[in-house]
Amino acid sequence: MRVLGIETSCDETGIAVYDSNAGLLSHTLYSQVKLHADYGGVVPELASRDHVRKIIPLIRKALADADLAMSDLDGIAYTKGPGLIGAVLVGACVGRSLAFSLGIPAIGVHHMEGHLLAPMLEETPAEYPFVALLVSGGHTMLVDVKGIGEYEVLGESVDDAAGEAFDKTAKLMGLDYPGGPRLAKLAAKGEPAKYKFPRPMTDRPSLDFSFSGLKTFAANTIAAEPDDEKTRANIARAFEEAVVDTLMIKCKRALKQTGHKRLVIAGGVSANTRLRAGLTELMSSLKGEVFYPRPEFCTDNGAMIAYAGTQRLLSGQTEGLEVKGQPRWPL
Ligand code: KG4
Ligand code: ZN
Repeated sequence: MRVLGIETSCDETGIAVYDSNAGLLSHTLYSQVKLHADYGGVVPELASRDHVRKIIPLIRKALADADLAMSDLDGIAYTKGPGLIGAVLVGACVGRSLAFSLGIPAIGVHHMEGHLLAPMLEETPAEYPFVALLVSGGHTMLVDVKGIGEYEVLGESVDDAAGEAFDKTAKLMGLDYPGGPRLAKLAAKGEPAKYKFPRPMTDRPSLDFSFSGLKTFAANTIAAEPDDEKTRANIARAFEEAVVDTLMIKCKRALKQTGHKRLVIAGGVSANTRLRAGLTELMSSLKGEVFYPRPEFCTDNGAMIAYAGTQRLLSGQTEGLEVKGQPRWPL
């Protein structure tokens, strides 16, 4: 089965073609990052308009790259939510109507299920069951994954997502949007343990997270310390270490609670090298395995939606004829 995947839930237009026998045939991405940079964050209306502009040319490109015609497709998968509703609806409208015109099934995919399954696109995919740590700009979640569609959320953020905390703290440091990767780059120049940030909610057994306090802690530290590059690098380092440590403590607990030996990490923050190194070390000490998507599939992309949609379509699920988007949608 050959499936076209469409991702438009935020500020990236991602299109891909996945074949259930041959694997990923092509993928293409347009990032709106420059469009939103002046505003310090994603402007929903501008995002929707830019998806409208890009989606058809990118679908044409993904098909051409895979040497396919529209008529070679067997199904279409699109992100149905959660996300910015205007942006989601662009992909949903195009995906649903294209499937209707071609007489093939369509499937709406949960954006976080896409992230969670992204490591399955790699050469050595994880076997079920596993614990998934999903860390993006909108979500921080620990999930017990028993199989496709068998997800139990073990814990999630009660306030800011991990990526959001990175972005907001980066903004406090005067770094441009999206701040997460820029803050990580600055942290690499900092010295360890110059500041001691808290590890929020690690003193209680729950697997929930809270990151907004770290941002406040960073704001107070920035205000109290001299305004130079070296100090900022040290603060960035301490902040990053606190986020990574907190995520690692909760992953360890989730693995103990479920008894699983495999850990999957996905979402934009899974591109963070300190987090990857920490979790790799943790899993080797626990004699377990860790799986990551390749860096380009950590952040939003069409390949993860094509993959997740293919699995859903193969299991016989399809979407009705109505075009639906769900800005909020529990996993
Ligand atoms: O998954 P994603 O592309 O979009 C959402 O669905 O939210 O994640 C984007 C988030 C942003 O908050 C960005 O700052 C963060 O991932 N991010 C990073 C790194 N690369 C991306 N955060 C920390 N370190 C990084 N290297
Ligand atoms: Zn995402």
